[in-house]
Amino acid sequence: MLKYNCVLIRCDLNVPIYDGVILDHTRIHAMLPEINHWQNQAKHVVLLSHLGRPKGKDQTFTMKPVADYLTHYLQAEVPLISWPNAALSSSLSVAENIRFFEEEDKNDAVFAKSLLEGVDHFVFDAFATAHRAHASTDQIFKFAKSFSFGELFKKELTVVAALYQSQAPYAVILGGSKTETKIGLLRQLVGKTDHLFLGGIVGHTFLAARGVDMSRSMYDSKAVHMAQDILKRADDMGVTVHLPIDGVNEQGDVCEVDQDALFDVGPATLEAWKKVLSHVNQIVWNGPVGYYEKPMFDASKKLGHFLLDVKANVIIAGGDTLAVVDENANFAHKSTGGGAFLYYWEKGHFPFQESKNEEN
Ligand code: 3PG
Repeated sequence: MLKYNCVLIRCDLNVPIYDGVILDHTRIHAMLPEINHWQNQAKHVVLLSHLGRPKGKDQTFTMKPVADYLTHYLQAEVPLISWPNAALSSSLSVAENIRFFEEEDKNDAVFAKSLLEGVDHFVFDAFATAHRAHASTDQIFKFAKSFSFGELFKKELTVVAALYQSQAPYAVILGGSKTETKIGLLRQLVGKTDHLFLGGIVGHTFLAARGVDMSRSMYDSKAVHMAQDILKRADDMGVTVHLPIDGVNEQGDVCEVDQDALFDVGPATLEAWKKVLSHVNQIVWNGPVGYYEKPMFDASKKLGHFLLDVKANVIIAGGDTLAVVDENANFAHKSTGGGAFLYYWEKGHFPFQESKNEEN
């Protein structure tokens, strides 16, 4: 006899998709034990997630590739359903992208409540989205009469909490975009880490903050001022900030950082970074250092290979960073959360934990 009729799992199946192909399945595979656990307890299990940042019901962001992948992988029909108000027929279903509803982003209470209609038990296992105060990651806790945290969520929290005890020397590699959202963490990291390596748009922004002409490359002009502040703090506290010393342009040629639009860090940068990274004890890496989606920009991939052999305890965090390294690559920890990992590391809690909830 199954304990529940319907269990809803808020997970993070926001996988990188390029040209309709899922580039990295880590977030899906990471959910499989949890799914299996609840399928043994409930007639229907529904997976609820967002994918990308759609404006309205833009089908480019449908969860269909995820439902299809699960159908193929589990060799059982996993339909894509609309949620809430779906007639459930399968043991496992994938709900359509929750961000198709504007109420999600608005953290709307009525909407959050409606997500739980017909649900006997709610499971929160969306570590990678736990830093968003959205209806399905924040308000929903107010209405869930029966809920628990998933094993992935609990494990991720344990790892990030352990970072506070890490031994020096300690290095953090940050890349990707969203400099403004990483600034708070960078400010904190200056007090904790010995070396900061910055690539991608974050790196370009810091180069601009150092007075380099980055007008040919993508960088966050609004964050330059804050970046200058962090560079000053780093100098004062003896933290070394490693920025790209060469780059790769759109044609794949090595270039000076201020002479062309940069799509990747260059070989001299990688060699200089490797020398330092060989001698540290803890490395946390979030964000590719270039436009990794195109194979010709392979510095992130090379960095990933290199990090497999260093003596340090290496943590890889975030969907895009996971997409860069081999799916079976054996790092100390591969976190499904990028922004969430950094958020929790900086603040020590998630929005939904701020006032109202306690783990059960
Ligand atoms: C992520 O990939 O970092 C999470 O899924 C959160 O996505 P978001 O940055 O679009 O909220």
